[in-house]
Amino acid sequence: MTKDFTKEDIITLAIESSCDETSVSVLKNGRTVLSNIIASQIEQHQKFGGVVPEVASRKHIENINIVIEEALEEAKVSFEDITHVAATYGPGLVGALLVGLSAAKAIAFAREIPLNGVNHIEGHIYANFIEYRELEPPFICLIVSGGHTHLVYMKDYGKYEILGRTRDDAAGEAFDKIARALGLGYPGGPQIDKLAKIGNKKAIAFPKAYLEEGSYDFSFSGLKSAVLNYLNSEKMKGNPIVIEDVAASFQQAVIEILVEKTISCALEKGMKQITLAGGVAANSGLRQLLQEKAKEHDLDLKYPSLKLCTDNAAMIGCVGYYDYIKGHHSALDLNGVPNLKIGERPL
Ligand code: KG4
Ligand code: ZN
Repeated sequence: MTKDFTKEDIITLAIESSCDETSVSVLKNGRTVLSNIIASQIEQHQKFGGVVPEVASRKHIENINIVIEEALEEAKVSFEDITHVAATYGPGLVGALLVGLSAAKAIAFAREIPLNGVNHIEGHIYANFIEYRELEPPFICLIVSGGHTHLVYMKDYGKYEILGRTRDDAAGEAFDKIARALGLGYPGGPQIDKLAKIGNKKAIAFPKAYLEEGSYDFSFSGLKSAVLNYLNSEKMKGNPIVIEDVAASFQQAVIEILVEKTISCALEKGMKQITLAGGVAANSGLRQLLQEKAKEHDLDLKYPSLKLCTDNAAMIGCVGYYDYIKGHHSALDLNGVPNLKIGERPL
C-alpha cells in the first residue's frame, strides 16, 4: 500500500474526551485530516437530561480503544506511522479527560514520540484552520460552546487576549436549560435551532443584557430567568404556549447580543477577520445574522462546517501540531486540568 506521506511529515494521533464525545483523529502536518472518528454518548445521557460525569468516564473507557483502531484504519496508517500524539487535558470533566489523556500518554511512551496536552477551547478555534487551509491569525474569534462563551483576539498561534467572557451561563448552557424547560430534551441547542426556524422571533420581547458601556462580557442568566418566568406565568394564566415562538424569541435575544458584541469588538480592534467556534457556532440563526452584519461592515467571517463545530479530535490535533512545531511538548506526568484557562500551557 502506498502511503500518502513521507518521513518528513508529522503524523499526529489526537484524542478528545473532555465531555460526552470520544473522538480520535489522525492528521498530517496539523491541517490535513486523514480521519476524525467521533463516538457520541448523547443517547446514554439523554435519559438524565444532561451529561452524567460517571457515565461519561465509563463510556469513554469502553470506547477509546475501538475509536483509536477505527481512526487508524480509516486513515490507512498503523501505530508505527504515528510520529506525534495530542490529547485534550482541560477544561472538562476530570474523569473523562483522564481516559483520553492516559491513552495518549501510553501511546507516546510506547512509541517514544512527543506528546502535546491541548486546551479544548483553543481546539474549537483551530477547527477554523482545518476548514480554511489559508486562514492565519490574527483575528477575532467568538467561542460559544456548552461550557464557554469567550470573545478572543487571537494574535498568533498559541497567543490570545481574552476581550470578553460570560459572567454566568455559557451560551450553549442557556440553550440547553431553556430546551429542558420546553420539554425538548438534551442537547437543546439543535432542537431550539430547528423550532426557531418555524417560530416568530418577534413574538416575545425577552430582555437582553448588554452590561456596562463598552464591555465585551456576556450574561445570559437574566434572559434565562425571563424565559422561565414567562413560561410559568403563561401556564398559571392557562394560556397556551407556542413553543416555536418561545424558541425563536429566545434564540434571537441570544444571537443579537453575541453578534452585536462581536462586530463592535472587531471594529474597535480594527480587525477585518472574524471566526466563529464551538458547538453553538452550529446555530443557523447565529451563522446567518453574523454573516449579514459582517458583510454590512465589510468584515470577513469564517465558521467551521457542522461536524467541526462540535467536539472532535481533529481540532485538538491541530493545536497540538502548532504547539509542537513551536518547540513545546508535554511531560508524561501531565494531569487533567478541569478548569484550564485559555492560553495556559503545561509547564
Ligand atoms: O462545543 P460543544 O460540542 O461542547 C462543549 O465544549 O461544550 O458544544 C455543545 C453545546 C451544547 O450546549 C449544544 O446545545 C450546543 O453546543 N449546540 C447548539 C447547536 N448545536 C449544538 N446550540 C445552538 N444551536 C445549535 N444548532
Ligand atoms: Zn467543546
